[in-house]
Parts: sequence; C-alpha cells; structure tokens
Amino acid sequence: MDPLVEAALAAREHAHAPFSKFRVGAAIEDAAGRIYGGCNVENATYGLTECAERVALFKAVSEGAREFRRVAVAADTETLTPPCGACRQFLWELCGDVEVILTNLKGRTEVMRLGELLPRPFDARYL
Ligand code: THU
Repeated sequence: MDPLVEAALAAREHAHAPFSKFRVGAAIEDAAGRIYGGCNVENATYGLTECAERVALFKAVSEGAREFRRVAVAADTETLTPPCGACRQFLWELCGDVEVILTNLKGRTEVMRLGELLPRPFDARYL
C-alpha cells in the first residue's frame, strides 16, 4: 500500500469525533519524503473542530516543512470524502497544486490535483 495512504488510515484511528462519529485521517508528504499524519479533533462547541487535513498540515509546518508533494485523506465512506472548503484553501496556500489522494477503508482510491478541487482560488497573488 502507498505509505501516504497507510499513514492517513493510521491517523484516522486517532480521530477524536465523539459528536459526529465521522472519523477522518489525513497525511501530507513533504518534498523530502517525510510524512505527517493528522486526524479530526472535535470540540463540544462544534465550531472549534479541526479537520484532519489541517491538523496534518499544521503539524508539518510546525516541524519546519515548507514544500509539499502529496496529501491523502481517508474516511469510511463509499463516495470518497474530499477536503472541506476551508482545508482546500489552507492546502492551496501552503502546498500549492499538490496531488490529492482520496481513500476509504475498502481500499478504493481516487487521485486528483488540488487545483481541480479549488478552481480559481483566492491567494496572496491578489493582495
Ligand atoms: N472532517 C474532516 O476532518 N475532514 C474532511 O475532509 C471533512 C470533515 C471532519 C470534521 C468533523 O469532525 C467531521 O469530519 C464531520 O464534519
């Protein structure tokens, strides 16, 4: 199995999702091949919930990673779960047009680019 997909599935095991019960894992690979995992971490106020993708991304950035190659997202859904809009925005800003791999627990995967998920993005070029 692709180690990035494996890392996303492993991170999903740590999901803290007592409210939605919707467990998500993500993993990000940097330019050096290092992999950073993340899971969703929910909060009783709901709105403070952090998605798996952003947790993985913030972990990577906080450990000094700045260039990224690929992102994987794992959830237990038939139709593969894509990153939410806020995560797409964050991923675009920090990773650019990376490869995004969606996967589920049955081993189904779909590969796309972030630019397909976030066409015509707003970013620092407009500032
Ligand atoms: N969630 C993620 O972690 N990533 C996604 O791509 C979609 C949604 C989380 C947030 C919340 O904990 C739960 O899934 C339900 O929305």
